[in-house]
Amino acid sequence: MAGNNMKKLNIGVIGCGFMGRTHSNAFSKVTNFFDVPYRPVLKTICARNGDRAQSFADKWGYESIETDWRKLVESPDIDLIDIASPNDTHAEIAIAAAKAGKMVMCEKPLGRTPAESEAMVKAVEDAGVANMVWYNYRRVPAVMLDKQLIDEGRLGRIFHYRTVFLQDWTISSDLPQGGEGLWRLDASVAGSGVTGDLLAHNIDTAMWLNGQIEEVTAMTETFIKTRKHNLTGKDEPVRIDDASAFLARFQNGSLATFEATRYARGHKALYTLEINGENGSIIWDLHDLHRLQFFDYRDESRLRGWRSIHVTDSDHPYMKQWWVPGLQIGYEHTFIHQVADFLSGLGSGVAAAPSFREALLTDYVTDAVLQSAANRSWVKVAS
Ligand SMILES: NC(=O)c1ccc[n+]([C@@H]2O[C@H](COP(=O)([O-])OP(=O)(O)OC[C@H]3O[C@@H](n4cnc5c(N)ncnc54)[C@H](O)[C@@H]3O)[C@@H](O)[C@H]2O)c1
Repeated sequence: MAGNNMKKLNIGVIGCGFMGRTHSNAFSKVTNFFDVPYRPVLKTICARNGDRAQSFADKWGYESIETDWRKLVESPDIDLIDIASPNDTHAEIAIAAAKAGKMVMCEKPLGRTPAESEAMVKAVEDAGVANMVWYNYRRVPAVMLDKQLIDEGRLGRIFHYRTVFLQDWTISSDLPQGGEGLWRLDASVAGSGVTGDLLAHNIDTAMWLNGQIEEVTAMTETFIKTRKHNLTGKDEPVRIDDASAFLARFQNGSLATFEATRYARGHKALYTLEINGENGSIIWDLHDLHRLQFFDYRDESRLRGWRSIHVTDSDHPYMKQWWVPGLQIGYEHTFIHQVADFLSGLGSGVAAAPSFREALLTDYVTDAVLQSAANRSWVKVAS
């Protein structure tokens, strides 16, 4: 589609931290690489601190700044509100944005609790506005290829799903909790610890690839019991889960293990998944994100073995839009792919996934995990 025919879509982004950057980058680059029917315009960046918002606006090319998200949501100049702020802000902003008739994109997890997430789903559906949650790992080309292989039946019946998300950045007991940068350690802001922050990604990918999770049994641990709170200056109890592991049964009869922690010394963001089916298996690792390991039992037996597929060819998902075969892309591209799919969906009328409603299912699983860990029991996942 010629650039001039693209309709403009005025974007208001809330939050100029880590995700504010990945989203701004995605909105500004998408039309350079993808033929989409809309051209995002970086209209307004919103952050509570005006100086910070202004320097972010200068760097990324936003036309204006706002310090109060309520004004942004009401602004007639804005078509789409993008929520890239901490979890305690998601529900209030998304509901107000939907009521104001704006399209809403929201970072994960959707809400801090299923009740918040349900209210968010209701708001966007009542308003009939386009919506999507940034579960970006679906848009890694190798993960998308994995989805294609499963949907084509190449793995056959699935028996096992095995996945971890390991980090090590909270091991020091001197690390405070709360406030800018450390809100993830404050349960009142984050909702939960690694279950909602890290495992939410594993769960979203898992249910997208392998269907619904029916029941779970979990254990969680908080290794450091108190930390100084940045906002009060006092030592306060830590109420997030530092580590979380659970067993799950999928509706299709397969079994799964999930584990996430911020106490795995040496690991920064080791997100891996392995799926074993009757005809084949796949392994994917975020630290080597352009490779898919694939074992196909139907290969000639003399040659059977694990293939390491370098997912960079033009017939691999999304790759035709990038460089030439053999050249890699990275983490930031997953966000560009997500925006491209969202904009294409606006044009075709087939909404890009995951919608708020689909993302709510992940929140039901994380809630069941936390309940199970508290009760030391198997818990059925709500649906
Ligand atoms: N999809 C992913 O892979 C991924 C990765 C990281 C974070 N996230 C999610 O993105 C969200 C933001 O995380 P982050 O890592 O970017 O956090 P961050 O701490 O780096 O940035 C958050 C930003 O929001 C701003 N903010 C806080 N309250 C605000 C308010 N009331 N109004 C306007 N701005 C406000 C902060 O000042 C900061 O600029 C969280 O929900 C998180 O779970 C998703």
